[in-house]
Amino acid sequence: MFTKIRQSITVREAFSLVQPDLQEVEREISVESVASVEAITTINQYLQAGGGKRLRPALLLLVSRLFGPSNECARKLAAVVEMIHTATLVHDDVIDLAKTRRGRPSPNVVWGNHTSVLAGDWLYMQAFQVALRERNFHILDVLISLTQMMVEGELLQLERLHRIDVSEADYMELVDRKTASLFSACASLGAVAGGASDESESQLADFAWNLGMAFQLVDDILDFTSSEKILGKPAGNDLREGKVTLPMIYALDKATPEEREAVRTVIHDGSYEQVPFMRVLQILKNYGAVEKAYDRAHTFTEKSRSIIAGFAPSAAQRSLTAIVELVTERSS
Ligand code: IPE
Ligand code: IPE
Ligand code: MG
Ligand code: MG
Repeated sequence: MFTKIRQSITVREAFSLVQPDLQEVEREISVESVASVEAITTINQYLQAGGGKRLRPALLLLVSRLFGPSNECARKLAAVVEMIHTATLVHDDVIDLAKTRRGRPSPNVVWGNHTSVLAGDWLYMQAFQVALRERNFHILDVLISLTQMMVEGELLQLERLHRIDVSEADYMELVDRKTASLFSACASLGAVAGGASDESESQLADFAWNLGMAFQLVDDILDFTSSEKILGKPAGNDLREGKVTLPMIYALDKATPEEREAVRTVIHDGSYEQVPFMRVLQILKNYGAVEKAYDRAHTFTEKSRSIIAGFAPSAAQRSLTAIVELVTERSS
């Protein structure tokens, strides 16, 4: 029992190894947020101050630490991935007509769609500008492919919006593009910054891809089971936005015609006025859909846990293992 506790590592400890680097990343993001047009600087500062978990930069930094001490290249790239992540969120909130992000009004609410789209564009390009300074084509290759994957994912999601007949395979493709691809790129770039072999890079990309899949599955579960206070965005949001995610896919597979109709009504209305959110939760409960979705998420975390277990024990390796637990057990 005791040895078990001593071997395990807390979430705070997981990030603590790269805490000084993360502070440097914040400084880097802040320096790179300044545009010659004030509105863009203001939005960038608002976005940075909104917080966020900084999971992607932490992942990149920890992967680089598997191969040696912290270095400048890893810190720059960590800033790059957080900036790309932020840019996708700005565009995503425009597309999804979101009202809240990270517990505050989303940029589209504060500055409107036009300005937000341009600010997102600027941020993407600024991220590429920072990456370009590394003068490494492989890095650019990873980042450009990634960004195209993500944009294609958002477009596919848009095409599938308000459809009730989404298959598990359709859903997995979106998760791969929207989320897992960015996690995977973070690990690739961390490996590059650490000077890893191609083989290690590809194993770590696979590790992070599985982690990203689990992360998004859990995110979609929490959308049903958590609260706005914890999430920083309203619960039940996905279905209201017309997105049928994994728990609902599992429930719809078994649902009665009446239950399907209830779900269709929420999607059609874009609100829980006719069919209350509690009714939707009841439908999920009738088929153990949340548990099923958790089981599916666990198959991804198990894969990523087994890949990282293949790396030599070190503080960074233990921290990455702890991040796998963090993603599985997170509540926000
Ligand atoms: C939000 O990602 C987008 C998804 C992939 C669900 P995070 O939940 O990591 O967002 P922040 O950066 O912590 O706000
Ligand atoms: C977030 O996607 C954006 C990307 C992962 C590209 P979602 O629309 O599913 O997530 P939230 O709910 O806005 O964070
Ligand atoms: Mg979206
Ligand atoms: Mg969204």
